[in-house]
Amino acid sequence: MEIGLLFSIFLVASNFIYGVHSTVFTIKNNCRYGIAPATLTGTGDLVSTGFELAPEASNTINMPVPWSGRVWARFGCSNDGGHFHCNSGDCGSGHVGCNGAGGAPPATLVEFTLGQKDFYDVSLVDGFNLPVSVVPQGGGAGCPTTDCPVDINARCPSELAVKDASGGTIGCKSACLQFNKPEYCCTADHSTPETCPPTNYSSFFKNLCPKAYSYAYDDKSSTFTCGNGADYLITFCP
Ligand SMILES: *[C@@H]1O[C@H](CO)[C@@H](O)[C@H](O)[C@H]1NC(C)=O
Repeated sequence: MEIGLLFSIFLVASNFIYGVHSTVFTIKNNCRYGIAPATLTGTGDLVSTGFELAPEASNTINMPVPWSGRVWARFGCSNDGGHFHCNSGDCGSGHVGCNGAGGAPPATLVEFTLGQKDFYDVSLVDGFNLPVSVVPQGGGAGCPTTDCPVDINARCPSELAVKDASGGTIGCKSACLQFNKPEYCCTADHSTPETCPPTNYSSFFKNLCPKAYSYAYDDKSSTFTCGNGADYLITFCP
């Protein structure tokens, strides 16, 4: 048989066996103000690294599989003299696209590993900037929603609050980010799950958002899985 044909048959067969597909992320802005969602790729092909969304607007991204990385959103953005900057979650690129840069904490992170099975979580390990929900679409049973739907900024302890020029709270740092101590960051002699229990600060976040990671060794209940084939609706200010 001709080698090209053989190879095509192999590709079709392997796509069938390994279930190669793309996963669609729909990112929606339910906030009363404009936001600029962004992605940071860990492994896998690059995807759109940032775009703006007016209130009620949404955008879809075709995600490659396998892929791992994070999604977050910036707000308080302006484009002064061609330099794009956001008061919260800024990635420092100077452009709407973050081009491989992460967001400045505190920012609520949605973390994904897409593959044969998908893993996803909402992380407040570096703090919070916007409420978010992650709702799998399809994928069968056992694809739970995860979220941090509460505006933690409104309740943030003053020692963790990040304020804008007019004094409004635009982010809430984790204790690790603010105090950089081993008992909050799970480092040094607190570097194992056994030696890094929750603290009153991580409990503050956990009580408001029980499904989200509140610190590095938060319990396993914060990571969720979904079978191959699901798409995801990610809503900011759900
Ligand atoms: C956590 O405990 C420290 C002292 O141990 C206290 O200063 C702080 O206010 C507490 N924070 C919260 C969020 O309860």
